[in-house]
Order: sequence, then structure tokens, then C-alpha cells
Amino acid sequence: MFLSNNFFLILLFLNSNLLCASASSLPRPHPRKTCVVRQHAQDKDDAPAILNAFKECGNGGNVVFLNQTYNINSVMNTTGLQDCEIDLHGTLLWGTNITYWLNNSLPIGYQNQSSAWFFGGERVTFRGHGYGTLDGNGQTWYDFVGGVSNYPGRPHGITIWNTKDSIFDGIRFVQSQMWTMAIMHSKNVLLSNIYVNSTTDDHSPARNTDGADTIFSDSITFDRWIVDNGDDCISLKANSTNILIKDSTFYRGLGVSIGSIGQYYDQFEYVENVTVTGITSHNTRYAAYVKTWTGQQVGYPPNGGGGGVGYASNLTFTDFTMYNTTSTGVFYITQCTTFSGVAGDCNSSLFNIRNIKFTDIKGYVGTSYIADMQCSGASPCTNIDIEDISLTKYVLDGVPVVEYECQNVENTMGFSC
Ligand SMILES: *[C@@H]1O[C@H](CO)[C@@H](O)[C@H](O)[C@H]1NC(C)=O
Ligand SMILES: *[C@@H]1O[C@H](CO)[C@@H](O)[C@H](O)[C@H]1NC(C)=O
Ligand SMILES: *[C@@H]1O[C@H](CO)[C@@H](O)[C@H](O)[C@H]1NC(C)=O
Ligand SMILES: *[C@@H]1O[C@H](CO)[C@@H](O)[C@H](O)[C@H]1NC(C)=O
Ligand SMILES: *[C@@H]1O[C@H](CO)[C@@H](O)[C@H](O)[C@H]1NC(C)=O
Ligand SMILES: *[C@@H]1O[C@H](CO)[C@@H](O)[C@H](O)[C@H]1NC(C)=O
Ligand SMILES: *[C@@H]1O[C@H](CO)[C@@H](O)[C@H](O)[C@H]1NC(C)=O
Ligand SMILES: *[C@@H]1O[C@H](CO)[C@@H](O)[C@H](O)[C@H]1NC(C)=O
Ligand SMILES: *[C@@H]1O[C@H](CO)[C@@H](O)[C@H](O)[C@H]1NC(C)=O
Ligand SMILES: *[C@@H]1O[C@H](CO)[C@@H](O)[C@H](O)[C@H]1NC(C)=O
Ligand SMILES: *[C@@H]1O[C@H](CO)[C@@H](O)[C@H](O)[C@H]1NC(C)=O
Repeated sequence: MFLSNNFFLILLFLNSNLLCASASSLPRPHPRKTCVVRQHAQDKDDAPAILNAFKECGNGGNVVFLNQTYNINSVMNTTGLQDCEIDLHGTLLWGTNITYWLNNSLPIGYQNQSSAWFFGGERVTFRGHGYGTLDGNGQTWYDFVGGVSNYPGRPHGITIWNTKDSIFDGIRFVQSQMWTMAIMHSKNVLLSNIYVNSTTDDHSPARNTDGADTIFSDSITFDRWIVDNGDDCISLKANSTNILIKDSTFYRGLGVSIGSIGQYYDQFEYVENVTVTGITSHNTRYAAYVKTWTGQQVGYPPNGGGGGVGYASNLTFTDFTMYNTTSTGVFYITQCTTFSGVAGDCNSSLFNIRNIKFTDIKGYVGTSYIADMQCSGASPCTNIDIEDISLTKYVLDGVPVVEYECQNVENTMGFSC
């Protein structure tokens, strides 16, 4: 151990001499304090031991999970970490005491949603090494809520909270309780080589199992994701800016979502500068879609609301390969969302959608429409550029898909409504 540490220091020194004229700017290397979390006997709650490990090693240390299954039977809050490395070699398996979670999951302060684990800090590196897994035991939840949307108290798997300059890599997320993760109040975070799979094995849908949702966050990169689920693959919500989603593969979910947004009466929210590129989609409902609430407030979040203002602008969706997209409009906009069960009122939203590029889209789909855009009469969509589309309709092998359905779309480029 001692020898190998010295060896590492020498290498570091040589490298730094190659790269810099002076080695004096090098931080003084010091061994990291390491906390190895040991699992309890069967069924005992491992959350207290995990909280202790983060308390001991959350500032400048290394938290290590062995290749074991850890039972999490209570909520965890491990925020405020500093320069912390986490190595997950095993599985964190969440308990299924629904009574407990409904009463204790931690509120996130948006859409009345809540979470099983608040996690965050600055300069955090969380590695799953392609193997480490968060397992939410979600089938219990899918069966319990039986398709009811946004069941109060049903927890998200993890909330990445107030996190800056951090990396999450090689982590698997399976059968999440609800949204897999929410990324909130965070900036400059890279999430790479992430596998998400939340699918149901019976008649209850895996609804609300979003792969990730960004809220009040800036400069977030999703690189090499695989998502197989029953809802949004990745969803960019209120105040998501400078977001990059690249080189990812999505199965069965709804596709990449902007929104829903505009749910809070008279509140200004926006989404700006989003690039989604290098995407392969198998049996998703859309390639991408934008969803806002109407201009009238009906009820309250999570399942009601509306009347929010703001805009979504500079959204680029490019280099998509589609296999069997299932719904009307490979690209879709709706501004008609209102209290569940209510319809109409598609022209009242003041939330503006503009500056969109949907380009270099190929493959085969189950619709005749390249785009279906129901924009609000009170605030039409402008500057929509759709070009370089090479889609065929699968049922009519080789027949090109060429149609558009538009309401209140102005200043189109590359196509006409
Ligand atoms: C973890 O343990 C399981 C069996 O318990 C084994 O199959 C697997 O290869 C191990 N993984 C790693 C990364 O060591
Ligand atoms: C998490 O812990 C921090 C620090 O104690 C606290 O300020 C924060 O309110 C907690 N968050 C939740 C959701 O309980
Ligand atoms: C489930 O949680 C509730 C509320 O915390 C508790 O009263 C009950 O004993 C727990 N049930 C089991 C089987 O642990
Ligand atoms: C709900 O949680 C609170 C505080 O955690 C506790 O006082 C209360 O007894 C719990 N109720 C049930 C039904 O478990
Ligand atoms: C918000 O969630 C709480 C429980 O966390 C629930 O009691 C309340 O009914 C929910 N409100 C709405 C509008 O769904
Ligand atoms: C997701 O899990 C289901 C059930 O285990 C499996 O059939 C499916 O192939 C998985 N999807 C991916 C993309 O691995
Ligand atoms: C837009 O986001 C990209 C990341 O996709 C970033 O590199 C670029 O700097 C952002 N542009 C502006 C004007 O902030
Ligand atoms: C969202 O962004 C707008 C515009 O900058 C700002 O007015 C609003 O306070 C932000 N909302 C939150 C909760 O940060
Ligand atoms: C929006 O896109 C335009 C054209 O690509 C670019 O000049 C501008 O910097 C972008 N603005 C933001 C805030 O990303
Ligand atoms: C294509 O989508 C249709 C409609 O959802 C579905 O019935 C069919 O099985 C899918 N085909 C393939 C090859 O996945
Ligand atoms: C919205 O307004 C357009 C004209 O701008 C009209 O054709 C359409 O029927 C209206 N839709 C609804 C649902 O009122």
C-alpha cells in the first residue's frame, strides 16, 4: 500500500513536469480518508451506517460500498458534501414499507413531489463502475398506485440537490419508485454512462418513472445514457439552461421532454439553450416534445395548475435515429395541458416557444406526421426550423413521412405548415 502510494506520487510528479514549467502549483497530495460501508444482517436498515460514512468522509474523503446489497429502509439526506468520492460496487435496495415512505419522503418544493434520498455537494465524484446499482423496488409502487399520476408522497429515487462541479458515472438505476432522479438547484454536473430501467411486469404501468428531471439547474450534461421506462426519458423543467444530452439510447418511454412547464400561475419560468444530439429511439412515443399548461389556472400542482409565463428558446434536436416511434408527430408541441380530464383551451397559454431546430432525423415511425405542433393563439411559436428529415412509415415500407400539423406556428424554416 505504502509502496504503491509512493509510486503514484512519482508518476504524478513526472507528469506535471511534462505539462508545466513549474511543479510548485501542484496541490499537496494527501491520502484520502476512506469509509467502507458494511452491510447489516438481512433486513436491517443500512441507512444509518451510510449516513455515518458520509458524515465521516463527506468532506475530502472517499465513501466505499462493497459488492453487497444494502437495505435502505429510511430517508437519507447527504447534502453539503465537499470534494467527496463515492465508489458504489454493490446495490442500494430500497424497502417497500409504503406506509413509511408516504409519510416520510422528503419534499423537493416543486409539484408537491418528494424524494427518498437528498444527495449533493461540490466537487463530488460518484462512480458506479458500470456495476453499482440503485434499485428502488419500484414494482411495489407501480402496483400500489395503479397508474394514478403523481401520487402524493410517492418518492423519487434520488434528488441531486445544490450540486456543483460534480460527476456521476457508470451508475445503474433500476425499478425506481417514481422519477429516477431530479437534478435541482445544481450547476456544472456531468452524468455519463448511466443505465436506467424502470419497467413493469404486470398490468400496472410504470408511470412517472422519468429517467431524469432538471429543475432550476444550469450546465448539465447527459452523456451516454440508456433509458428504458414508462415516461419521459429525460425531462427539462422550470429554469433549465445550457443542457446537453448526447449519444444516448431510449426505449419505450415518451422521448426527450421540455416541460411540462407553465404550471404555476403568473410565475416566470424558462428553458434555454438545449442541445440533444446522437439519439437512438426504440418504440418511444416521440423523438422530443414540448408541453406547457394552458393560460388558465385550474386546480393546483401536481395534477392541476396553469397560467404560468416565460419561454422555451434555443432548443436543438439533431441526429436522431428513430425505430418505430409510436405517436402522432415525431416532434410534438402541446400547450393544452390542464387539470386531468379537462380538454380544450389550447389558445390561452402565454408561455412562448421559439427558436427550435429539429434536423437530421432518420429511421422509421408509426405516424404520417413529422411534426404536430399545437401552439397557443395567445403566444404563437416562432422560428421553427425542420430540415433534413428522412423518415419512412413502417407499415408502408419505404413510404416517406412528409406531413405537418400546425396551429399558430409562425416563421417556419425548411418546411411549410
Ligand atoms: C459482485 O458479486 C456478484 C456475485 O455476488 C458477482 O457475480 C459479480 O461479478 C461481482 N461484481 C463485481 C464487479 O465484482
Ligand atoms: C438536509 O439536511 C440539511 C442540512 O442539515 C438541511 O438544511 C436540509 O433542510 C435537509 N433537507 C431536507 C429535504 O430535509
Ligand atoms: C412500516 O412503517 C410504519 C410507519 O413508519 C411502521 O409503523 C410499521 O411498523 C412498518 N411496518 C413494518 C412491517 O416494518
Ligand atoms: C408520520 O411521521 C411523523 C413524523 O415523522 C410521525 O410523528 C407520525 O407518527 C407518522 N405517522 C404515521 C401514520 O406513521
Ligand atoms: C401534496 O402532498 C401531500 C402529502 O405529501 C398531500 O397530503 C396533499 O394532498 C398533496 N397535495 C395535492 C394538491 O396533491
Ligand atoms: C429492462 O428490463 C426489462 C425487464 O428486466 C428487460 O426486458 C429489458 O430488456 C431491459 N431493457 C434494457 C434496455 O436493458
Ligand atoms: C449552450 O449550451 C452549450 C452546451 O450544450 C454550451 O457549450 C454553450 O456555451 C451554451 N451557450 C451559451 C450562449 O451559454
Ligand atoms: C426562474 O428564472 C426566472 C428568470 O430568471 C426568475 O425570475 C425566477 O425567480 C426563477 N425561479 C426560481 C425558483 O429560481
Ligand atoms: C441562442 O442561439 C443563437 C443562435 O444559435 C445564439 O447566437 C445565442 O447565443 C443563443 N443564446 C443562448 C442564450 O443560448
Ligand atoms: C411498433 O409499434 C407498434 C405500436 O406501438 C407495436 O405494436 C409494434 O409491436 C412495434 N414494432 C416493433 C418491431 O417493436
Ligand atoms: C385556436 O386558434 C386557432 C386560430 O388561431 C383556431 O383555428 C383554433 O380552432 C383554436 N383552437 C381552440 C382549441 O380554440
